[in-house]
Amino acid sequence: MAVDRDTLTMLHREPDLAEDLDLSWMDQTGERGLSAKPGRRGLTLEEINKGTYGDAPARAWENTLAPRGAARRAGVPRAGYMVPAKSDIWSENAAMLYEEAVQRQWSSATDIPWDELAPLPDDVERAYSQFCTFLTEVEFIAGDTPSQWLPQISNEHYEVKMFLASQIMDEARHLDVFRKRALANGGGLMSSSGNAGLRVIIEAKDFTEMSTIMHVQGEGLVQSIFRMGEYIATNDAEKRIFRLSAQDESRHVAFGVMHLKYILETEPERREEIHGYLEKAEPIIGAGVGQGPVAGGSPIFGESLGILFSHTLGSPEEGGNMALAAFRRQLNEYMHRLEVAGMGERRYRLPAMIQAILEPPKN
Ligand SMILES: [Fe+2]
Ligand SMILES: [Fe+2]
Repeated sequence: MAVDRDTLTMLHREPDLAEDLDLSWMDQTGERGLSAKPGRRGLTLEEINKGTYGDAPARAWENTLAPRGAARRAGVPRAGYMVPAKSDIWSENAAMLYEEAVQRQWSSATDIPWDELAPLPDDVERAYSQFCTFLTEVEFIAGDTPSQWLPQISNEHYEVKMFLASQIMDEARHLDVFRKRALANGGGLMSSSGNAGLRVIIEAKDFTEMSTIMHVQGEGLVQSIFRMGEYIATNDAEKRIFRLSAQDESRHVAFGVMHLKYILETEPERREEIHGYLEKAEPIIGAGVGQGPVAGGSPIFGESLGILFSHTLGSPEEGGNMALAAFRRQLNEYMHRLEVAGMGERRYRLPAMIQAILEPPKN
């Protein structure tokens, strides 16, 4: 069948993609003309936070899924971000801590020399298992709690969201590495703590309340425990577990200290309110004082730590003394973090049992 020329022309004609297209969206972009080059640590969030893109607003008016700096559109449904005030959630180091977290991720499966684990005396293995059971439990709450706040924070304050996301990943790895240590050497899991201190963290109704109790106090204490963990490690696998976990934990504590500092500087009227949150949580730290070596508010945890110190030092007496010294160091480090954040006066309002253990102020 013959095909006429007009039909052939129509069949071979390239479609005109621009025909009838509405290109008005090209006029609606955010700020243009900015560029960024990788710095010493690569192309970090800090490098691209320029112009209006770097301007985290004091109040996030944009309660939609729009990224910070994107052009606004009318008629967009709200996303339900319920914490619009920057001061409520901000920490100046959030972007930097997020980048560090991404660059320093590690794997509990392949970065720990598990082959170094060796049989331990039964009581020591049981103590190690108890130690790791408690830490696994603690790590769950440290991931669950920030995850409750992620959907509350506006995209305009995305640096904090990303830091919290990195923390959730860190905590997943921590709970898995302590679970693995408990199971890998035959000891298994031991007793759950039943520790009311963990509920105080997840029940916090305000971000600053949560961050001060969890990042500054709770994770500060855990950070001190991780440093002790390196000391009581019985092999290189355990040393590495604690060293790598402490590296992650220092970011979580740093976020909390800087958030507290930020809020005290920008909203000094909240100082007394924050004392109230600490007053609620601090008695749990000292709950086991007088019941033997305690570090973390759980007597069974403290006892397991005492056995591990005894194993390292060779005698129960020396182990007990070291556990008490470690508890004292934990409290001094807690006080130091509060001083860095600008709450040095907290020293004189701590529960008497804690004040009695603290070293005197340096100046
Ligand atoms: Fe952790
Ligand atoms: Fe943590």
